Amino acid sequence: MQIDVTRTVADYAVTFPPAKRVFEKLGIDYCCHGKKPIAEACEMKGVTLTELSDLLAAEEAKPQNGEAVELDFANMSLSALSDHIVRCHHNFTREEMDRIAALLNRVCTVHGGNHPELFEVNRVFSELKSEMEVHMQREERMLFPYISLMESSFNFGMPRPPAPFGTTRNPIAVMVSDHDRAAEMLQEIRDLTNNLEIPPDACFKYKTVFAAIEGLEKDLHQHIHLENNILFPKAIEMEDSGSVSDARALQEQACGVHEHGHEFSHSHEQSHVHSHGHAQVHSCGCGCEH
Ligand SMILES: [Fe+2]
Ligand SMILES: [Fe+2]
Repeated sequence: MQIDVTRTVADYAVTFPPAKRVFEKLGIDYCCHGKKPIAEACEMKGVTLTELSDLLAAEEAKPQNGEAVELDFANMSLSALSDHIVRCHHNFTREEMDRIAALLNRVCTVHGGNHPELFEVNRVFSELKSEMEVHMQREERMLFPYISLMESSFNFGMPRPPAPFGTTRNPIAVMVSDHDRAAEMLQEIRDLTNNLEIPPDACFKYKTVFAAIEGLEKDLHQHIHLENNILFPKAIEMEDSGSVSDARALQEQACGVHEHGHEFSHSHEQSHVHSHGHAQVHSCGCGCEH
């Protein structure tokens, strides 16, 4: 497979999903740091572009099995994609975090004496759990419903609905920064445990909790990939493609009076005169006087 050095890691992950397995093998971060050019990411890991090309070609040649088949996330509606994220990833994350928290408490009680690092793992994990719970709630209550509303308005040829947070770039920047923080906390857990290494005296619960943390981390990679690399950039692109970008302009367009005289480029703070040359007062609620 020919590598295009102008493309980013995220581009490859979105357009050729099996590439994610190759990136995981090579330790290339495609979710939180997916915007890195592919050549730079390879250089950082000491992998040549020819080696990457061979690995991608081998992945491409593998027969598709149930696990390899992925939904076409890149072409899904934003509303369907956010529903999928909540149904498959938020629910899983909540359930797993509850299970891991309970297991970690028990493992700390039994093995904390010989492995004091477990107490620190428990502390970092509780922080990750509370931050992720708030994060997912914000996405579900504010950002995702707004993105779906914007998409349906867009589909009906309507302007972008007003948003309490201004542009979607604002909450998206916060969500992306939360993702970085979650990745840092998971790395902290890996550092504390020598990459989730199982000690010789580990019991079944000890092994189970480390495997569960690894599973949660893997799921978070896909979860963050879908948001950072597909949902959020598409939402921003959709917002930018709209001709009307604030509540006042929405009212202005709804009133219809402006359409005959001039472009919607004036500021309401400036006085303006319609091209038909007479004053007119109407009650459209847009705040203009005509
Ligand atoms: Fe999410
Ligand atoms: Fe998120």
